[in-house]
Amino acid sequence: MIKISPSILAADFANLERDISRVSSADYLHVDVMDGLFVPNITIGVPVVKSIRAVTALPLDVHLMIDRPVRYVEDFCKAGADIVTVHVEADTEENTRLALERVRALGKRAGVVLKPKTPAEAALPFLDQCAMVLVMTVEPGFGGQSFMEDMLEKVRTLRGWIGGRGLDCELEVDGGIGPRTAPPAVEAGANVLVAGSAVYGAEDIPARIAELRG
Ligand code: DX5
Ligand code: ZN
Repeated sequence: MIKISPSILAADFANLERDISRVSSADYLHVDVMDGLFVPNITIGVPVVKSIRAVTALPLDVHLMIDRPVRYVEDFCKAGADIVTVHVEADTEENTRLALERVRALGKRAGVVLKPKTPAEAALPFLDQCAMVLVMTVEPGFGGQSFMEDMLEKVRTLRGWIGGRGLDCELEVDGGIGPRTAPPAVEAGANVLVAGSAVYGAEDIPARIAELRG
């Protein structure tokens, strides 16, 4: 089953509870955390995740676009994150491993994220520890960018490794996903689709979520 994780980056932050309730037919809620260092944008932090936790039953899929995320993963877990993904580019291999361990020790699902220029191989050292691998299909930092078709090969490669090793690991894509780009991403092996503008820009949000699910 294909899962949809709407990104609240495209929501109206002054009406976040309303906009979260509009995507209640989705599978996860994607929360983009940016620190202005790892990416050139600043979004939301731990207190907002805690407030969101109180108003939705959807699992919170927290995408940390922050420098040295090992410093904060436990805070996000305690605030109510269900899935926490960290960028492999954001710290040393040792600290990334430690970040994943800390998430798992709190009973949450951990994952790694790859920026577009980062090869699939960069996920290999962590695959056994991951409940999710996220392939960025745009440069992280902003919503509303165009899907990078050349990321499909990376998705295909990762799907092959996950299947070949029999791992219980979801494969998520994030950036530029819409009705036109969802089918090739799924065909390449993605099973979780993040969508911000395609969901919140839709006339009929539940219909768009169903359409993306295919
Ligand atoms: C970008 C974020 C994405 C973003 C996707 O750095 O990680 O989650 O919200 O937005 P769309 O779906 O509009 O490309
Ligand atoms: Zn994201």
